[in-house]
Amino acid sequence: MELTIHHIEQTTSTQLEARKLIAEGVAKTGDIVLANEQTAGRGRFGRTWISPNGGLYATAILPDTPLLSLKAGLAVVRALRSIGLDTGLRWPNDVMVDDRKIAGVLIETEGNCSLVGIGLNLTSTPLETATCVARYVNMVDRDEWVREIFGALFEMSSGKSVLDEYRSVCLTLGSPVRIDGTGENPPVEGIAVDVDGNGRLVVQTREGKRVISSGECFHLRAANPDG
Ligand code: BTN
Repeated sequence: MELTIHHIEQTTSTQLEARKLIAEGVAKTGDIVLANEQTAGRGRFGRTWISPNGGLYATAILPDTPLLSLKAGLAVVRALRSIGLDTGLRWPNDVMVDDRKIAGVLIETEGNCSLVGIGLNLTSTPLETATCVARYVNMVDRDEWVREIFGALFEMSSGKSVLDEYRSVCLTLGSPVRIDGTGENPPVEGIAVDVDGNGRLVVQTREGKRVISSGECFHLRAANPDG
């Protein structure tokens, strides 16, 4: 599938840029907006995504499909694994290497479409808790990567095999976790035991199983047996 990439040197956010290009009739479903730098990059939960020059900041305009949020993370994992990086996912789609976040996914809605934003740290780590590709491998070609990641995402089915692949790279499964709820929901603590057919996290708590559809997931360390 031939993907059209709209290149932008610097923008506030590729999510906003994609909305603008759609409104102007310049971008359509299947197109990708790729920037070299963002001055107001957006993260999940209303956070800022620090986006210095030289990272990968891309938004694809896609039809809304089931499990899109999980599949976007999986597409990044596949690309990183293909160059030898040992990556996995913290539910639903934080891409992790050595317990540090290397990429994040933000999905927003625009009309009938989803705006799938992916931020991948290439050359620098904006936060202590993050890492970047350059720490592990020689630099990659951004355009090639964008084509690889979104090409894989466009072609991914929403069936059981994708879900099984997701489960196999999901670092959250088997971990003690805390999920901080959005809005009024109190946090949920327990062991993450499954990701169900709708992409929801199943957590075994002391009170029984809870099925979580959204929230921020933290992996809790088991107490150190050596003290
Ligand atoms: C997260 O908080 O983990 C999601 C981060 C998503 C960042 C990407 S960078 C490209 C796109 N444009 C934005 O402003 N945000 C997303």
